[in-house]
Amino acid sequence: MSQHDSHAGTALVVLSHHRTDSLTAHTARRAAARLEAAGYGIDMLDLHAEGFDPRMNVSDQPDWGNREKPYSDEVHAHMQRILDADVVVVVFPVYWQSVPAILKGWIDRVWNYGFAYGRSKPRLAGKRMLWLGLAGATADDPVVEGMQAVLEANLSDGIAYYCGFSHSTIGLLTDAEERPQTIDAEGNLLVGEAVAGAERETQYADLDRRARGFVDRFAADSLSVPNRATSGIR
Ligand SMILES: Cc1cc2nc3c(=O)[nH]c(=O)nc-3n(C[C@H](O)[C@H](O)[C@H](O)COP(=O)(O)O)c2cc1C
Repeated sequence: MSQHDSHAGTALVVLSHHRTDSLTAHTARRAAARLEAAGYGIDMLDLHAEGFDPRMNVSDQPDWGNREKPYSDEVHAHMQRILDADVVVVVFPVYWQSVPAILKGWIDRVWNYGFAYGRSKPRLAGKRMLWLGLAGATADDPVVEGMQAVLEANLSDGIAYYCGFSHSTIGLLTDAEERPQTIDAEGNLLVGEAVAGAERETQYADLDRRARGFVDRFAADSLSVPNRATSGIR
């Protein structure tokens, strides 16, 4: 973890991918660099590299009668990183029109009752969130419209806004696969030729450009809105 004070505040960049040479990890590193250039101190949370355990366990199961219930030390440390952040940027591959299990586990365990929700004045109120999801589907695949809608309902409405965030954007990055894949009218999966050479460079440069657009717009909007002070949890 690297964390620095800076005039724009702190950006918690959450990477959810098992390979450090993945397109997702590359996109997370570039997002962090853009946020740093915009004046943010970066807290990079690589869930796999840090060995995050996504399994809900007994000590992290919410006790509905007690909002002050202490959770595990691991979860309290993650809660503090969220509190210390002014913006949260999550970078992940879209799996089954949702987030990978390790990222879902981070939300299940850390965004807990009494911390992320269940208070009359949400502790995360005013923070801003960007979800950058890399999808294998091609931009012209009809599945993309529904994917965008389901991610907005799940991640923005169901998680960020439910927890008092003032803003949440889904940055869906299609064409993340080197082999274009589509489903035809009969339900058959059609896997195209692997893109190679200059065409592949162009494809990835385009994905980089789209990702940068999401991050830059998010950073510009965030800086035009005053950040609210956050407080400790213990
Ligand atoms: C388990 C699994 C589920 C996936 N589900 C979807 C999906 O629902 N929609 C989609 O467009 N791509 C899906 N994909 C493709 C991934 O989004 C794609 O491989 C990934 O974004 C590529 O980035 P990476 O090279 O960093 O892994 C899935 C891939 C895996 C392994």
